[in-house]
Amino acid sequence: MGALEELAGPLVQQFSQLHVAAQVGALAAAFLALSVFVHVANQVLFKNPNEPPLVFSWFPVVGSTITYGMDPPRFFRENRAKYGDIFTFILLGKKTTVYVGCAGNDFILNGKAKDVCAEEIYTVLTTPVFGKDVVYDCPNSKLMEQKKFMKIALTTQAFQSYVPIIADEVSSYFKKSADFKGKSGIVNMPPKMAQITIFTASHSLQGKEIRHKFDETLADLYHDLDMGFNPVNFMLHWAPLPWNNRRDHAQRTIAKIYMDTIKERRAAGKSDAQDMMWHLMNSTYKNGTPVPDHEIAHMMIALLMAGQHSSSSTSSWIMLWLAARPDIMEELYREQVEVLGADLPPLQYEDLAKLPLNQAIIKETLRLHAPIHSIMRAVKQPMPVPGTKYVIPPSHVLLSAGGVTATDPAFFPEPDTWEPHRWDKDSPIAPGWCKGAASPYLPFGAGRHRCIGEQFANVQLQTITAMVVREFKFRNVDGSNKVIGTDYASLFSRPLEPANIHWEKRDE
Ligand code: HEM
Repeated sequence: MGALEELAGPLVQQFSQLHVAAQVGALAAAFLALSVFVHVANQVLFKNPNEPPLVFSWFPVVGSTITYGMDPPRFFRENRAKYGDIFTFILLGKKTTVYVGCAGNDFILNGKAKDVCAEEIYTVLTTPVFGKDVVYDCPNSKLMEQKKFMKIALTTQAFQSYVPIIADEVSSYFKKSADFKGKSGIVNMPPKMAQITIFTASHSLQGKEIRHKFDETLADLYHDLDMGFNPVNFMLHWAPLPWNNRRDHAQRTIAKIYMDTIKERRAAGKSDAQDMMWHLMNSTYKNGTPVPDHEIAHMMIALLMAGQHSSSSTSSWIMLWLAARPDIMEELYREQVEVLGADLPPLQYEDLAKLPLNQAIIKETLRLHAPIHSIMRAVKQPMPVPGTKYVIPPSHVLLSAGGVTATDPAFFPEPDTWEPHRWDKDSPIAPGWCKGAASPYLPFGAGRHRCIGEQFANVQLQTITAMVVREFKFRNVDGSNKVIGTDYASLFSRPLEPANIHWEKRDE
């Protein structure tokens, strides 16, 4: 008898005496131990010098998914300190290479279409939500045309018409809302800002017919549609689960509402509306094809969804910071009184440019709380990283995290302090940096996938902030100057809830 058989014999005998369930358990434990052993050995023994360092993990597939998912910015900072600006970790079984710093931002976001691809990553999540033939369910060249149509519609003339619409929506929201009855009270702010964001965006970008439908059916339908953005859907997007069934029903119903509205508008003839739907109805692809109605409908969904999470999260953070810094809220009020007059006339688009502190509030809030903490790209062919020995293979995904440079003390002294005055023209700590995609401050991304909604978001957020400041004084319920932590559980980061603040109406 060989030595191995001598050793294994008693083990096999003991195993055969176990109950079936215990046998299955023992086999599973042995399999797990073996896969952990192979996974660890692979990391220790087979390091490829031409690939970035790998963040150590114990379990295959899971890799660093949990530590990353709990607090992505902390994960990036800690591993940057250990490995430098470029490192790889395992996210749901996929080798994901993070490249932070200005050069990293540029390398990923300015990547050429032949090297990097966004649609391959995002389409599973976005296509069931937006619908077919738009954004990531079409070739990149078509998305570029669609983005151009949407961007052209966002003219100065359009913004001039949007500011009064947004201002009126904000005032009437506070007049009607049961949570803001009386002189003062306490409220969980993020759900309120989510409503204000969708009312203001739908009214300005999609017209009043669509806005009115939000008081009836659309709010619930959009809520169901939103469930499709649950991060588990990166894996389970296809599954016949209750939330996916509701997502699909909502997508079909909303698309039909838009298509019916398009037909009604066509039947009614010309309109002077400055909204996006009207503009898309009159747009034509380079090959001469007018944008089909179903694509207009799907782009309307995409626009509202793209803007909703980012703007609603940003406006919530703004309100929470104003409650933490009532001194800044007072300064904002004084700024409006000094620039626009004590009677505070109805807000106009041109007024926004005259309110630098009001603008800085948005910039500073996005610096600390960019809602998109990770931007991903599939790698299409081996990508040498300039100035290093690394070549990123097509089996990797690239991850850009602009928030790392936006909170790097090399660019922003006292980076964790929310200080809108750092953006003052003559501030001694005013940020100075390189330009373009190599900038350390990229809350709206860069390169071919850069946000087309930046100006709209600024107009929307500045108008909402100015209107709230006219109406209220905020403070934290406990009087502190602290702000609640971040919820990273959904795709877009946002404040944890409840995020209660104390509000008091200004005297008339
Ligand atoms: C793309 C941020 C508001 C529409 C992006 C990207 C970022 C971003 C970082 C790049 C994504 C990537 O490279 O994968 C933000 C922030 C917003 C905001 C911080 C508000 C505070 C809006 C609004 C709209 C919008 C209001 C629509 C009106 C889009 C579109 C894209 C985009 C269409 C292009 C996606 C692509 O080309 O792949 N946004 N966004 N965003 N955003 Fe925004």
